[in-house]
Amino acid sequence: VDSLTAQLIDVHELASKLYHHILVNTAAGERALDYLTKRGLSKDIIDQFSIGYAPPQRLMYQFLHDKNMDDDLLRQTGLFLEWQDGHLYDRFVDRVMFPIKNGSGKVIAFSGRLLSTENTDQPKYLNSPETKIFNKRKVLFNFDIARKAARRDGKLVLFEGFMDVIAAYRADVTNGIASMGTSLTEEQISTIERVTSSIDVCYDGDSAGQNATNRAISVISEQAPKLEIEIVSMPAGIDPDEYLQKYGAEKFKDWLSSARQTPVSFGLKYLRHDLNLDNEADQINYLNDAIKLIATVSSEMEQDIYVNQLVAEFNLDKTAITGQLRELTRQRV
Ligand code: GTP
Ligand code: MN
Ligand code: MN
Ligand code: MN
Ligand code: MN
Repeated sequence: VDSLTAQLIDVHELASKLYHHILVNTAAGERALDYLTKRGLSKDIIDQFSIGYAPPQRLMYQFLHDKNMDDDLLRQTGLFLEWQDGHLYDRFVDRVMFPIKNGSGKVIAFSGRLLSTENTDQPKYLNSPETKIFNKRKVLFNFDIARKAARRDGKLVLFEGFMDVIAAYRADVTNGIASMGTSLTEEQISTIERVTSSIDVCYDGDSAGQNATNRAISVISEQAPKLEIEIVSMPAGIDPDEYLQKYGAEKFKDWLSSARQTPVSFGLKYLRHDLNLDNEADQINYLNDAIKLIATVSSEMEQDIYVNQLVAEFNLDKTAITGQLRELTRQRV
């Protein structure tokens, strides 16, 4: 580790401590602490994730400046914006601060959440910009903890948001990770592959979550065909954090272990999500795409399960489907 990297990490560690202190020990942090408490976060969880608060009065710059950090270094942390005259001022204002850590648990960036998304054109989450130590394509939230849990649990669980990873942790599911609000990257898949051979994808129960699940399945199976994927679908309209909030930790864990699907089973549902299967043309399109998808499965027994489902649902002749399936499988070989 070169000295600039080490210094940038030091600044982030220090900044994280200040944000955390403001949240838990000062009057300026009360509103944010209240917000987090209402969202079900205990003191322990706030400590565990070193959650903090960046108050409206910009004080990070002064704090670090007083610790003899020079502007040249501070400029490279991404924590500040720069006036035209070169003056630095805090980027994060009036936001709950989630430290983003590298694989060794060192703070390398932040994501700040608004306390309220009403009457504002500001983004709900604001991330640190790319810096020498932070490349958002490479980072997975909670990876430093989850990689250890994965050794015990044999897998990782991929969520959409930080609050979902934190919700899972509250239910003792500590092998959760999340990307930085972007779709899964090549770098992140390589990182995942290095510590486990199995991943559960548990995105939000809305159409954005379903689209993201579909994308995740295709990039993972493309890039890491040996990585075993299972899909956990949330009930319509809620995300894992809302599920925990609504039904509690026990039900949350039950859901994670029971609402599981194979990628193909998910894909078969996904293929039809914007079709009207009462319409014949839609039905034929669906069946053609469904058979193509089933043809990608290597196990004949698994293929047979899906074929039987189609046969039963659409009242089809099984030999017609298996014939088409053979044809596609042959083309592939
Ligand atoms: P909460 O509303 O706090 O529960 O967050 P969420 O995780 O449920 O948010 P959502 O499902 O809307 O988005 C999922 C993830 O996308 C978040 O955890 C963020 O990482 C990211 N994200 C959401 N909104 C924004 C945004 O405005 N800007 C950026 N850069 N990322 C965002
Ligand atoms: Mn603390
Ligand atoms: Mn979402
Ligand atoms: Mn969500
Ligand atoms: Mn949420």
